[in-house]
Amino acid sequence: MRTPLVAGNWKLNKTESEAIELINAMMPGLEKVGGVEKLICPPFIALSSAARLLNASSIKLGAQNMFYETEGAYTGEISPTMLKDLCEYVILGHSERREYFGESNQIVNKKIKAALAHDLIPILCVGENLADNEAGKAADVISTQLRASLVGANIFDGSKLVVAYEPIWAIGTGRSATAEGANRVIRNVVRPILSGIYGAHVGNKIRILYGGSVKANNAKEYFGMSDIDGALVGGASLKAEEFVGIAEAAQK
Ligand code: 13P
Repeated sequence: MRTPLVAGNWKLNKTESEAIELINAMMPGLEKVGGVEKLICPPFIALSSAARLLNASSIKLGAQNMFYETEGAYTGEISPTMLKDLCEYVILGHSERREYFGESNQIVNKKIKAALAHDLIPILCVGENLADNEAGKAADVISTQLRASLVGANIFDGSKLVVAYEPIWAIGTGRSATAEGANRVIRNVVRPILSGIYGAHVGNKIRILYGGSVKANNAKEYFGMSDIDGALVGGASLKAEEFVGIAEAAQK
């Protein structure tokens, strides 16, 4: 009932010309994958070229971040109205933004509300660090992140929000969470909290992705799980063959 979503978070990688090259390399393979929503999130500077390239394709475009104001004296920032012209999705609250750029749950909350107000679909990232995981605090951390990030964020259609569960200890480390472990967190923690906030009808429609060292050769294990609706892919989304392989693995 939820269409799988395979999203590539390119992070701080690729110049504009390299981005065009990568999109051209992955487009034919991605276009052949049906029944899966395919999304790429290149850096801001490549968004308008990417939007032109993907215009007539089935591949969607997203940004990796956004400020919550629409305009004004905020040097260096990008607004929801600027993004709305170019893309459909925006990744918000990624752990790297929380860690390196001081994004609190309160800031993420403002961004989520701004994205929704401008009809951008937020991909809200949550996940515990290694210390919290080992101390058995994963559920508490995730619960706080979700509740605080979604305060006052009204959603009446579950397809307007995506959540990515990305355990920090599994990002870029090659040490992925087991499919069973990720599924358990999503089924027992993330989905019940979303259903508690929005009601089961909306909650059941929100797609929940796993992220953290997903590759073409392990993707099927995750997509075979009952509650994992796709993946937010970092490193492997920078290689055309790998990313196409992951999208193929999401096909039913
Ligand atoms: P990796 O796939 O490189 O572990 O990154 C995951 C991630 O942070 C996606 O947002």
